Amino acid sequence: MLFTTIILAVQLLVLISPALAGFYGSDTAVINLTPKTFKTEIYDTNYTSIVEFYAEWCGHCKNLRPQYTKAAKSLTGVAKVAAVRCDDQSNQPLCSRYNVRGYPTLKIFRPNSKVPSNPYIEDYEGGRTAKAIVDTILTKIPNKVQRLKAENFRTWIEESKSPNVLLFHNNANTPPMYKGLAIDYAGTANFGIIQKSEKVVSKEFGVTKYPTIVVVTKDDVGEHRHNYAGEHKKEPLYEFLSGFATPAEGARAPKKPKRAKKATQHEEL
Ligand SMILES: *[C@@H]1O[C@H](CO)[C@@H](O)[C@H](O)[C@H]1NC(C)=O
Repeated sequence: MLFTTIILAVQLLVLISPALAGFYGSDTAVINLTPKTFKTEIYDTNYTSIVEFYAEWCGHCKNLRPQYTKAAKSLTGVAKVAAVRCDDQSNQPLCSRYNVRGYPTLKIFRPNSKVPSNPYIEDYEGGRTAKAIVDTILTKIPNKVQRLKAENFRTWIEESKSPNVLLFHNNANTPPMYKGLAIDYAGTANFGIIQKSEKVVSKEFGVTKYPTIVVVTKDDVGEHRHNYAGEHKKEPLYEFLSGFATPAEGARAPKKPKRAKKATQHEEL
């Protein structure tokens, strides 16, 4: 009798615990959205987002879950990865507004640089793997990092009123992490990338290794250069830049969840 009771109790716990932890628990980087938070998180941001509309009982959603969780971790600080649980009655208004007819439905929200809080919305129809999701989203994130050359970098610095963040890089393409930083500081700092081949500029700034970050500020006395000496990772860079500029309120893409293990893939993001 006691034995049966214990078995039943264990079975009950097994049944209940995933519900308690949530489909996307706080140990993941997935943002759980509600009608209260949807607009602020997805509309009032300069970040691109992907939103999954799902139901907990749905098999395809369960299959997608580990991949989606992995994508969220990879895109931390670069794009928002979010989810709406449609079998929760209180979220129904969201699921009907976006015409969700099957689960999972994935939609991409891309900020409209001309009209704030009015994103472009499209269906995500790519593969349901972390890699396919990450690769697609990376092609849809805004690039606020200006490509600078020896001929134009002086004018760019002189004309700007905000601090200038110069990234000296050996690659022509801006790494996603820097695009994320430029979004965090949109409107309060200017970001530029200078390729290694622009030797004149590197020489003027005494840059000999890549990547290197130099912040140029101006005041009555003149121009000041601040070299970044830390690791080229989002968190320490974000902290360093906060000494020169203020990020937009709530603009940030979520940090890595505290309990999560270190990302092993896409670490160079
Ligand atoms: C979005 O970017 C613009 C500048 O491009 C900035 O003025 C605005 O504050 C940013 N909005 C948010 C919510 O970060």
